[in-house]
Amino acid sequence: MLRSKIAGIGMYVPEHVVTNNDLLKYMETSDEWIQERTGIKERRYAHRTEETTTTMGVEAAKIAIQRANTTADEIDFIVFATLSPDYYFPGCGVLLQRALHMKEIGALDVRNQCSGFVYALSVADQFIKTGMYKNILVVGAEKHSFGLDLTTRGRNVSVIFGDGAGAVVLQPTENIEQGILSTHLHSDGNSAEILAMYNPGTHANHWGDKNYASFDDAEIANMFMSKKMIDNAELFPFMDGPSVFKKAIVKFPEVIMEALNKNGYQTTDITTLIPHQANLRIAQFVQQKLGLRDDQVYNNIQHYGNTTAASVPIALCEAWEKGKIKKGDLVCLAAFGSGFTWASALLKW
Ligand code: UT7
Repeated sequence: MLRSKIAGIGMYVPEHVVTNNDLLKYMETSDEWIQERTGIKERRYAHRTEETTTTMGVEAAKIAIQRANTTADEIDFIVFATLSPDYYFPGCGVLLQRALHMKEIGALDVRNQCSGFVYALSVADQFIKTGMYKNILVVGAEKHSFGLDLTTRGRNVSVIFGDGAGAVVLQPTENIEQGILSTHLHSDGNSAEILAMYNPGTHANHWGDKNYASFDDAEIANMFMSKKMIDNAELFPFMDGPSVFKKAIVKFPEVIMEALNKNGYQTTDITTLIPHQANLRIAQFVQQKLGLRDDQVYNNIQHYGNTTAASVPIALCEAWEKGKIKKGDLVCLAAFGSGFTWASALLKW
């Protein structure tokens, strides 16, 4: 039975550093509030016009491809996870395929927000295990800075997020001492609206309780995109932070234990846990609940903020570059976010 291994990994973050104090230009907040509630000190914002989610994904992908000792021409499938695509459609996968002058290979976009990269990795893993593809590029990238309400009205959401990208190349291996051992995917759509960006969308609840039959033609014509949406900040993400926090601290440990149990391991066997960088307080709670030592958990939200689908590959890449992940190590990736969706992957490096 074939296994998938991460043959190459890369990351890219924009040059522009935005500190907590820099945000004071736009909103009422404080470095103290942000650090105390989230652990974040700074984040990166992409260049407004020259960088997009795809261009950042391309930079991360180039490094991953080179480290996998392969070429863009040899990649036979793309899985691209993001919630901040360059266009409403088509997705970033085809834009990356074009930018890297790849062959006419399949390109799939994954819309699973914070757990997007782990979902994407799981999809790619299945294709490798069945022998269908031999060189899959998996990317997680976000340009949040373009779509945040940077006024005081949106501060509970906007201070958390940052931009960046991470990528891996998955290849088959017959070495049973290496590669992805298992992946675990979950969802609960009952809370879909508590962390969401509703517009633009095809739902018809823009006018709250107003009876649809009473809409006039002008209102119906502008349902997808209207001035009212702009005026009411409905084109920005909405988050009920405390509710997300409460669910996250239950589902993170659950899905990590699911991966360990499936493979006969215990928490003490984990070399490095890479949790989605949602909030340092969530990661610390999970660490404490599972009884993990500091050296078993890698966090870098302090410097990049929450980069959603990019956070797991960025943290994984940085941990590996710093020599914290070595051959044979047991690495657990875990994520939770909008949907709700949550996921884990257990792998031997
Ligand atoms: O990756 C996607 C998944 N997302 C998450 O996992 C996020 C989970 N949730 C969280 O991380 C936390 O809920 C937040 C960091 C978003 C917020 O922290 P909190 O401790 O839950 O704060 P809160 O929303 O309950 O707000 C507490 C107070 C409020 O003021 P009052 O009503 O108590 O006077 C807010 O208006 O803090 C205020 N506040 C702020 N103050 C300064 C909210 N945002 C800010 C801000 N600066 N940026």
